Amino acid sequence: MAINHPSFGELADGRIIIFDTTLRDGEQSPGFSMNLEEKLRMAEALHELGADVLEAGFAIASPGDFDSVQSIAKRFAKDGPVVASLSRANTADIMASAEATKGAARPRIHIVLATSDLHMRVKLRMSREDVLQRITETVTLARNHAADVEWSAEDGSRSDLEFLCRCVEAAIKAGATTINIPDTVGYSLPADMGLIFSTLINKVPGAEKVIFSTHNHNDLGLAVANTLAAIQAGARQVECTINGIGERAGNASLEEVAMALRTRHDALHATTGIASQRILRTSKLLATITGFDVQPNKAIVGRNAFAHESGIHQDGVLKDASTYEIMTPESVGWTTNSIILGKHSGRAAFRDRLKTLGYEVGDNQLNDAFKRFKDVADRKKVVYDEDIAALVDDEVGRANERIRLTGLNVSTGMGTKPMATVAIEVDGERADGMATGDGGVDATFAALRQAFPHEVTLKLYAVQAVTSGTDAQARVTVRLEEDGKLVDGQGADTDTIVASARAYVHALNKLLVKRQRTEPPVVLRA
Ligand code: KIV
Ligand code: ZN
Repeated sequence: MAINHPSFGELADGRIIIFDTTLRDGEQSPGFSMNLEEKLRMAEALHELGADVLEAGFAIASPGDFDSVQSIAKRFAKDGPVVASLSRANTADIMASAEATKGAARPRIHIVLATSDLHMRVKLRMSREDVLQRITETVTLARNHAADVEWSAEDGSRSDLEFLCRCVEAAIKAGATTINIPDTVGYSLPADMGLIFSTLINKVPGAEKVIFSTHNHNDLGLAVANTLAAIQAGARQVECTINGIGERAGNASLEEVAMALRTRHDALHATTGIASQRILRTSKLLATITGFDVQPNKAIVGRNAFAHESGIHQDGVLKDASTYEIMTPESVGWTTNSIILGKHSGRAAFRDRLKTLGYEVGDNQLNDAFKRFKDVADRKKVVYDEDIAALVDDEVGRANERIRLTGLNVSTGMGTKPMATVAIEVDGERADGMATGDGGVDATFAALRQAFPHEVTLKLYAVQAVTSGTDAQARVTVRLEEDGKLVDGQGADTDTIVASARAYVHALNKLLVKRQRTEPPVVLRA
């Protein structure tokens, strides 16, 4: 019998559903938390990329998480991706997910319950029979609130396979429409995955009515390999994240899975709805929002992924790129001629370039971004696409900020005490600060503390170059802590101290938003 999924109807042969969990599993990794506005931007980008399901969050985790899931669901009220929210196997979690996702055109409740003997004994303190009963009760409850229900067997890959079959059978009987088998701790080998999926698909009564899904962590660097092995054994949904972010070593990376399926269609016979040319910019957007760049040698989106250094390779690529390239850089969004606009370029050309890069900005944002572009073009010999992306991402992230940096002056050098003066606007009111420090950046942060008095701990200060060269823009990440709450801010500029000040002010603004929310800390171990 063909699968007739409530959200996808009949799936075409070989079509793989891409379930993106950047906003849930990805966001759970330390330092990767995003605020509501950032999550909405990511959700938009993921939709444009072609993700089929967005796991928007863990609705019960905090009021902030609930808001994010609800806002993303409302954004996709008419059409768009399936919007899922994670829930543990209890009534409160499921009701929170049901409420938060109900505004979406295609809502999904995702329930997780551990099935390995270890997790059941130590963590859940439940017997096998208890777990089976809980699956039936909770999936039934969820089905009363949503047509699309996913059930996940946490630590599924380390569960007794006979028992896992019984659990899956119970979930299907209770109405689950997707069955997900996570390799929660990244322990499996590809051959294990093949065995698990082929056993479940061939043995469990009713298996033909549901979509099987794979969710792999990267503790042994095997997340993508395990994902492909699961697909070869019949999985039709892949859970993954942009840049492979996620708990501990991360999840299977969406871009690697999508490009493996495309490049090796000959062997895997599977397709996705991913618009591959948007991969790079989605990856960059995530890096800008979180402040974490991928490593240079990261497959598909790393700076060196298509760089050919050795003479032999360069010679081969010049003669025929396919000698050393298994996919074209353009197919994932890299541009060959990345030297673009200069200081004489006008607004129309700038707007046009933004469009090509995939940015749709409103008039006000265009004005602000254009001013920043002119400023960068004045100081930088060549303005690359990466520069434009960095400054637009930076500008868009700043809409509605209460604190704005309006002026900065720093004097520093050998044998002098570095000193900074700053001017800011707080809700439109001007405030000034002046301070000395151990270096220009330290003095700037001290001056900001004077202009806007606050007590925070600086937890991280990181600088990355957007492109190469001494005139490259610096992208700075600043992490601040106040009363146990962490926020990250980013700033980009050709001047590292200005970028640092912008990043600090960005983080402060996020802190103001956090202060307004009371978020009871919830420890999540999904
Ligand atoms: O890794 C895991 O087990 C999970 C589940 C919540 C799907 O993230
Ligand atoms: Zn996970």
